[in-house]
Formats: sequence, structure tokens, C-alpha cells
Amino acid sequence: MYAKKFSFTLVSVLLLAAFVLAACGPAAVTEVPAATAAPAATEVPAATEAPAATEAPVVAPSKVEVFSWWTGGGEAAGLDAMIKVFQAQYPDIEFSNAAVAGGAGTNARAVLATRLQAGDPPDSWQGHAGQELIGTYVAANQLQPLNDLYKAEGWLAVMPETLIPLISQNGNIYSVPVNIHRANVMWYNPELLADNNITVPTTIDEWFTAMDTLKAAGVTPLAMGEQWTAMHLFETVMLGTLGAEKYNGLWDGSVAWDGPEAKQGIENYKKALTYVNSDASSLTWQDAAQLVVNGDAAFNVMGDWAEGYFRELGKTPNTDYGWAPVPGTVGVFQFLSDSFVLPVGAPNADGATAWLKVAGSKAGQEAFNPVKGSICARTDCDPALFGVYLQSAMADWSSNVVVGSLTHGVVANDSWKTDINTALGLFLADQNVETFQAALVTACKASGPCK
Ligand code: GAL
Repeated sequence: MYAKKFSFTLVSVLLLAAFVLAACGPAAVTEVPAATAAPAATEVPAATEAPAATEAPVVAPSKVEVFSWWTGGGEAAGLDAMIKVFQAQYPDIEFSNAAVAGGAGTNARAVLATRLQAGDPPDSWQGHAGQELIGTYVAANQLQPLNDLYKAEGWLAVMPETLIPLISQNGNIYSVPVNIHRANVMWYNPELLADNNITVPTTIDEWFTAMDTLKAAGVTPLAMGEQWTAMHLFETVMLGTLGAEKYNGLWDGSVAWDGPEAKQGIENYKKALTYVNSDASSLTWQDAAQLVVNGDAAFNVMGDWAEGYFRELGKTPNTDYGWAPVPGTVGVFQFLSDSFVLPVGAPNADGATAWLKVAGSKAGQEAFNPVKGSICARTDCDPALFGVYLQSAMADWSSNVVVGSLTHGVVANDSWKTDINTALGLFLADQNVETFQAALVTACKASGPCK
């Protein structure tokens, strides 16, 4: 059991915004709280008359449409591995893979929003544990509680106790977490560092010194891609500058966005951007990560789905790529969790339930995660199935301070994140720290806890 020693101190933004880990006993809650609110599902009235037909009724083939953004770069391979488990267990259910391309769901989530607006939900979709789920979909009454499924599958005994509040409201549990990803990973090219006599930096100042050396040697110090990867870099540099406690304070309103700590974080971020490849905005996260393993850039800050991609490319850990916490974040695990949901009005609720059973199962998670580049959400997966990087992630998940990701849905709901993203886009263009800080204050007041 690799995630046995942790607990979070939740700080509330609606339910919560961020949390810090402190050692505690294993997650072993056995009671499932009863659902307090019934979903808006329509009740099927009892039949009052037997049908007059004598022919056997035509039974529609059962199916399930599952929506995600896992279309390539290690992600599709992980999903395929779980689909195989599904097909072996439910050969009679036709699986429809409705994945929409685009890292971090930038395109997929827009498509999903349109479909939900039109009353056309997929049977199940990938949603992040935390405020994306609770402050967005649950707030809009779009999801059905899954308490009965948790009870039937015995999931509370095997899911991290501290993950449950991030997917619950008023005693109702709303999703099935399939994994734990780490956001604050700095991938590096070991050979480029060695050639330039650089040891792996652990503080932001060491990192900047190393990147000055690399820049002077004509090496691109830091690989970055399109805007969501810039947000990903932003949140990790803020974490590296402020530390876990004050970073959490940004999400619960106790640390001011226009205060000196936030300002220092933004200044550091601005400096980090000076080391980035000039074509960042036209690169996907895979393009940017690939610069590192190809020896075209020294560092890349990206979640550990990058490891799934490196493996798919046939690269070797510790040779073609190394990893460390983003400088300033040693001992902190900035997490996110992909989870699947059952929407209100799911066209094929039985198929969706079958999918959720696989997503929450040991077999499903053991097939998916080693390929995807994540660790199981469940605490009982076999560590021997995982490579050396993921084994190190398991150790850190069970021992580090845990905080949540912004870009990947944990600490802010969709409207707050959208406001931050708009401000960030302007900052990437004008680099004006004061304007950015003012916009972040406004965003917190409009949609966050600074109201
Ligand atoms: C995250 C998601 C990960 C991975 C990543 C890049 O939001 O949680 O599973 O898909 O985006 O696409």
C-alpha cells in the first residue's frame, strides 16, 4: 500500500480549494454515507397493462460512450489498456471512444460544455477531482451520486480517504477516481546537464543559475508549449516560490494575490519565461516534452503523463530523461486525479455503470496507470507493475505534503480558472506584473474566495 500515510488539511473554497498533507493512518472508511439527494432522474412508472404483442421484444444492443481527451502521447495507450479490460468483462456492451484531442482537455471540455448545454451528455466523462467536479458539474446538478456503487464495490476501503471529500458534496460521492497524477515534475536531459556541469537544481535560484549557464552555452534551457502548459508552469513556480502553505492560501483567500509573496512568485515566473523556446505557443505538451528527450532543451515542467509519452517513444528512464520536483517544491506533491462520472440523463446508464466499475477496479487501474504515467487512485495496486519513475511517485505520494493543481481542476472551479487563464494570456503578451496581479485579484473577487 503506497498511499497509506497521508491526510489533508482541507481549506474551504465552497467545499475546499486546496489541502496539505500530514502523516496519518491508512484510508479505511467502511461506511458509505447514504445519498441525501436523489438525482433528477425520471421515475419509470409501473406498467399498468401487459403488451398485446406476442413476438419477443427487440432488445437494443447495449453500449456506452466514454468521453475524454486521451487521444495520443501515452494517454490513448493507457485508455486502450483499460478499454481492453472493459471489453473482456463486458463483451456485450459496445464501447464508443468519444475522445477529443487536445492536452489538458482544452478542446474536449469546450465540446463537452456544448453537449451538456444541448442536453446530449456522453454516458461518462473524464473530470478532475476537486473544484472542477464539485464547483462546476455538481454545482450545475449535472451528475448523479454514486454512493450505491461505492457500497456495492467496496471502494471506500480502497480509495484514499482524503480523496473522497474532493469528489463529494453533502454526503454524496460524484465520481470514480482512476489515478493520481503529479503536476510538479521537472523533467531534464541528463546528458545536457552533465555536459554543462550542472547538478539538478533544487531551489529556484539554483535553477535560474543553471539555465543562465545553459543559455550561454546555446542550449534552450526550458521547453514549454501552448497556453495551458504556461499555466502549468505558472502554478508550479508559484508553489516553488510560496511553499505549500502559502500556495494553499492563494486558493482559500488567506494569501493576497496582490501581496508580496504572490508578487515574488510572478516575478519568478516572468524570469522563468525568459528561458523558454520562442515557438512555445505553437507546440503541444508532447512537442515540448520531446525537446528534452531529443536533447533540444534541458528542462520541461510537465505532469507525469509525460512519462507515459517518453515510454511510448521508447526512451529509457535515468538515461534519456531524469526527473525531480520543480525547484522549490521538494517534499511537496502537487496532485490531480482523473475521475469518471455518471451524468444526469446518461443515455446508457447501465453501460456507464459498467465502465465506472472497471475504472474503479484493481484490474482496470493496474492496466491503465503503468501505461498512462500515473499511479493508481486505489491503494492496493501492485507496485511491481510500475516503472522506476512511478515507484518514486508512489513513495512521494505517501510521504510528501500534498497540494492541488490549478490547471487540472483541483483548487479552482471553471469560472475562476477561466478568469486566471484570460489574465495569464495577457501577461504572456505584455509581461506586466502589476496588471497581472490586479487581474488575479479581480479574478479571485469575481469567482474565488475573495468575494
Ligand atoms: C490532464 C489530465 C491528464 C492528462 C493531461 C494532459 O488534465 O488530468 O490525465 O491527460 O491533462 O493531457
